Order: sequence, then C-alpha cells, then structure tokens
Amino acid sequence: METTKKGATLWGGRFDKPLAGDMLAFSTSLPVDWRLYREDIAGSLAHCRMLAKQGIVAEAEADAICAGLADVLAKIESGAIVPNAERWEDVHSAVEDLLQERIGAVAGKLHTARSRNDQVATDVRLWCRGALDLLGEQLCRLQATLLDHAETHAATPMPGYTHLQRAQPVTFGHHLLAYVEMFSRDFARSRECRARVNVLPLGAAALAGAPYPLDRASVARELGFEAIAANSMDAVSDRDFVIEALHVCSLIMTHLSRLAAEVILWSTAEFDFVEIDDAYATGSSIMPQKKNPDAAELTRGKAGRVFGDLFAMLTLVEGLPLTYNRDLQEDKEALFDGVDTTAACLEIMDAVMGSLRVNTARLAEAAAGGFSTATDLADYLVKKGLPFREAHTVVGNIVRCCLDRGCGLGELTLEEYQEFSKHISTDVFEVNTVSGSLAARDIPGGTAPSRVKAAIETARARLGQDRAALT
Ligand code: ARG
Repeated sequence: METTKKGATLWGGRFDKPLAGDMLAFSTSLPVDWRLYREDIAGSLAHCRMLAKQGIVAEAEADAICAGLADVLAKIESGAIVPNAERWEDVHSAVEDLLQERIGAVAGKLHTARSRNDQVATDVRLWCRGALDLLGEQLCRLQATLLDHAETHAATPMPGYTHLQRAQPVTFGHHLLAYVEMFSRDFARSRECRARVNVLPLGAAALAGAPYPLDRASVARELGFEAIAANSMDAVSDRDFVIEALHVCSLIMTHLSRLAAEVILWSTAEFDFVEIDDAYATGSSIMPQKKNPDAAELTRGKAGRVFGDLFAMLTLVEGLPLTYNRDLQEDKEALFDGVDTTAACLEIMDAVMGSLRVNTARLAEAAAGGFSTATDLADYLVKKGLPFREAHTVVGNIVRCCLDRGCGLGELTLEEYQEFSKHISTDVFEVNTVSGSLAARDIPGGTAPSRVKAAIETARARLGQDRAALT
C-alpha cells in the first residue's frame, strides 16, 4: 500500500504513520473543491491582515504570507500550478502547502486562530454569493428577452389552455409575461437567499471560537460580508445556505422546465405555434426530415438532476450531530452541480427564446377555434340579466348544437340563437370575436392588449431596479 509523503497533510504530529494512499484517494476533495482557490486565498488574505492588525502575527510575517499567497494565486491563474489529488487532501491544504514551499515555516502562522472548519464554510459562502449574483444576472437577461417578445406580441392572440384544452383567448405576450413573473420571483428569492449566505464564519475556528483578540468585523468588511456568524458552533456546522441556494436553483429549473415543455409542444407539427432556430435544434441520424428541440428537452430533463442535488443536501445535513463532520465535505459536489446546471439551462433557454420564431397566423387561427369565446357569450347573457349559472347552461346547449352541426359559434343565425334564449339580439355577433374577448379583459393582470402593454412597462421598471441591486 502506497503512502503519502510526510508533510503533505496538515496534521502529521500525533500520527505514527502517514495517510495510506487509498485513504487519501478516498477522502480527497481536491478535484471538486479546487475551484474554490480564489475564495480560499481571499479569505486567507483577509484573515492574515487582521492577525497583523491585532498584533497576533508580526507585520513582516504577515507581509511575507500575503506576498506568498499572491504568488500562489498568480501561478494557479497562469496554469503554472495545477491540482494534484495525490498530493493534497483539499484546496485548503494545497494552498497552505504551496505557501510553505514559497516562504518556509512562517507560512504556518497563517492558520493561527483558524480551522479548516470555519475556513471551508467561509470559502463556500463566498462562492455561493458569487453564484447567486450570476444566477441573478441570468434571470434578468432572460426576463429582458421574454419582455421583448411580449412587447412584439402584446396583441397577438393565441389559445389559452386549461387541462391542455383550449379555454379562452389570451395574447402571446400575456402568456410570456406569466414566465416573467416566475423568473422575477426567482430573482427575489435569490437575493433573499444571498442575504443569509452573506455572513462570515471565520473566527469560529474549529467550533468554539479562538482565544485571540480577533477583529471579526474587519474580516467581514474586507470580504464584503454583511454580518458575522453569531454562534461559533452554528458557523461551522450550518449548511442551510447551501440547501437554500439549491432550492432557489430548483425553482428556477421548475420554471425553465415548464417553459421548455411548452416550447417543445408549440414546435410540434400539431401545434405549429413556434419554430426553434436551427442553431438550437438538432437533426436525426436516420430521419432526414427531423428537427428536434433538444435544448428545451435537455433543460426539462436536467430539472430532475438539480432536485437530486437539493435532496442530497437535505439528506446530508439532517440528523448530523453538531458541529463539523466530514460528511459536510459532500456539500460542494451538490452545490456546484446544481448551480452549474441551472446556469447552463438559463443560458441556453435565453438563447432559445431570443431566437424563437412565432407563427402569429397559426396562433390567431387556433385562438378562434375550440369555442374559445363561449365564456364571453355567457358573460353577454349575464349582462342581459341572466344569472351566470343559467347563462352557462344556455351556452352549453348552443355549443352542443354547434358540435352536432360541425359549425362555430359565429356561424349561427340570430333566429337560431334566439331559440336558445330570447335575451340574445344582433349585438351577439360582436361578442363572438377573439379581439372582443381579449379587449373585454381590461382589468389589471388581464389579457387585454392595453393591459399587457402596461404590464410590460411595470415589469421593465421592476427589472431595472433588480439590475441596479446587482451592481
Ligand atoms: N475538505 C473539507 C471539507 O470540504 C475541509 C474541512 C476539513 N476539516 C476537517 N476537520 N477535516 O469539508
């Protein structure tokens, strides 16, 4: 059995033997957490400066440590240093080992009043904060894309569905605005989550705090944290923030997958409402005529994967005794995968929606079919004094008659209408139009084109504020 070189781990002193090679291979998190090197070094720099300011390490020593860390960062960024899982247990050991290589024993002073437990929690919080900012930007971009389409199609009629049966006409713009609302709530959730993420664990040390006069607030300020963790034990064992971030991702994926499913449906020959741009569709290796909506299908499929990441995290944390347990190392794989997947789906769906062609003629034709103005006819009778339930029955009978004859509501004569109700007069023919049905829904939140245009303005103003909050 191979063993690691003495000195590669951070804890050799009380051990007779170095770590077995297979144990290192089993336990290393380096391939996963290497991407935290920037956060790890930023946290170390802030910690080190504070130690010097507080007189816990000498200024000259802190200068050497900071210069060494800057060199490690530069070498990693340039590709001169690459991760080596046979040598390092995690990114924290790697950075410290690399620092030691550069500045010698004084590197060991960096870990004064710090543990990997508060270090890793700090790194993950910093990463998570950046990830939420990125998702926030993407959610804004997608909303802007949907709003542009909604503006073009504020008055374009389409069938609105319930039970996937044609129900009432709506405008395509109104339908898209429903998604804008979902993504706007996702944005708000990402910011609320960010506020809880943005709390500094450093100072908690292993679990109980550190016996040094630390200035935690100055470290928090330097790293852009809004607050310091109030309890050292919670600081090192809490991963609520990872769960919350994955919950944010899961709802984004839920909304993206609904949008994806509609785009898939709309681009079938049966619907023919939209056409996906060739650049975001694929062909078949056997059927030359095929054009498949793979970007949307993959987005729909990847939703399950992100929910899996959320469940992995919930299961990881439940039942775990306080405080830090090595189990928690598993948090990063779920977090990174959930965020990466969500970001990739936001990116591709923005491109799919931005390049989507809309078949307005087909949408209008479909909007007029399926007795879509039947509710308007019932409302017409209500305005003539009938109770709604009675009007509902009368119109049901009219629809039944049309079905038997194979005609639409607009094709009956006035005399035929009056056989169903004496309340019906010539003005009924205005009611049976899609444009009349749309225009009638002239209330806030309704699908009347003027209301859709107003809603777009409101959404744009909100988006402007959201974007400002990101900078
Ligand atoms: N790689 C570890 C993790 O990600 C770092 C913290 C290790 N702490 C410890 N006491 N073993 O959780």
